[in-house]
Amino acid sequence: MACISSRDPGKIVAARNGPGPVVVGFGSGESYLSSDITPLLAHTRRVAYLGEGEIAVLTAPEIRFSTFAGAPVEKAVDTLDWEPAMIEKRGFAHFMAKEIFEQADVVRDTLKSRVSLDSGRVFLDDLGIAPDVFREVSRVVLIACGTSYPAGLVGKYLLETLGRVPVEVEYASELRSRDFVMDRGTLVLGISQSGETADTLTALRLAREKARAVLAVTNNPRSSMARDADGVLDLHAGPEIGVAATKTFVGQLAALSLFALAFAQARGALSDEDSLALVQELQRVPLKMDRVLGGAAAVERAARRFLGCEHYLFLGRWINFPIALEGALKLKEISYTHAEGYAGGEMKHGPIALIDEGMTTLAIVPRDRVYDKMLSNIAEVKARSGRILAVAFEGDERARASAEEVFAIPETHQLFTPFLTVLPLQLFAYHSAAAKGFDVDQPRNLAKSVTVE
Ligand code: AGP
Repeated sequence: MACISSRDPGKIVAARNGPGPVVVGFGSGESYLSSDITPLLAHTRRVAYLGEGEIAVLTAPEIRFSTFAGAPVEKAVDTLDWEPAMIEKRGFAHFMAKEIFEQADVVRDTLKSRVSLDSGRVFLDDLGIAPDVFREVSRVVLIACGTSYPAGLVGKYLLETLGRVPVEVEYASELRSRDFVMDRGTLVLGISQSGETADTLTALRLAREKARAVLAVTNNPRSSMARDADGVLDLHAGPEIGVAATKTFVGQLAALSLFALAFAQARGALSDEDSLALVQELQRVPLKMDRVLGGAAAVERAARRFLGCEHYLFLGRWINFPIALEGALKLKEISYTHAEGYAGGEMKHGPIALIDEGMTTLAIVPRDRVYDKMLSNIAEVKARSGRILAVAFEGDERARASAEEVFAIPETHQLFTPFLTVLPLQLFAYHSAAAKGFDVDQPRNLAKSVTVE
């Protein structure tokens, strides 16, 4: 809560009671108050965070802190390492477009100094917990909301395949209402770009009472979630201004890939040879992402061509099922178009009834372990006069023969295809919204971080 009195207009009094973040900024002869650090960047990089049960009294020359009972509190000033230039559009029409094109660099930065290209080892020294924890747990639970949820699902599939461990992914808002069973054999990861989502914070606080350890996978290592956690996996994605998460999603994929590899290596679940091959391929992913982004004009043309379409079904299987969810979410939130994300195998259990010429299916069909099954899905859609767009490997003639448009991606290891398949879907959503003249960076009814339940 923040108050200004008309009788004392040069003063702001702020108080925090609960998980919502309150940040103060120290300028020169100016003081600032915000619910996030990003808006402060244009004014100052010197900040402090209000703890629960604390009050800040801001005047232009100074900020004083106390407890609710009035005892003075000394605050350490934190200097942000994000540059003000990071929050400029740099020639792009929208922040979202700029952030989409930054994604290959985000993966490069997330991997930097954390992998050895000679041995294939992954080093998560900055995580702050001993690798022993990875060996001691028998289960991993990932907790998230919104776009961070499909990132968690990709993480689940990576951990299952590489670490051979049971994994669950939970919506934070649901988990906190349930009688969720958790014990000291459980490792919990909270996934949140902001680190301030109220539901995720509350669910993680509940988890802390029972689990072996709670880790925060976040783009804000100073957030409430990071401060509450036993360890932090920093995304290093830089500030994300567009309300629709793009580069932080890809940062989450990179962080979770590293985590899954480190986890598997600590448990001896992955051979040195496989580790090396995977790490070397992961290192090649950013270059392939740049290649996909180089084809953005074709996605823009398709988005304009399909502007009249009002219903979309996004289909993917296995590790690209989460990307179908994320593609549909992106289209919904910025272009206000009805879109559903489904697992390909579920299509015949309901959504198939919706298919006709008014429904476009966006099928994700890299040549992986579920490729043939996805081609069958496409055939079923075609037989019912549905329109088809596909994301497929370059040179895939079978996909090209079935779809009106194919967004091509280079080949990569099947576990890493989400880094590439998500890009045309983000671009499709972006261009659909931009062509309709919508406020891409600040879509209606949405906030960048949801700090209330
Ligand atoms: C993403 O495009 C959305 N705006 C939203 O779903 C977001 O992912 C969600 O609110 C979770 O945010 P977090 O990652 O900061 O916790």
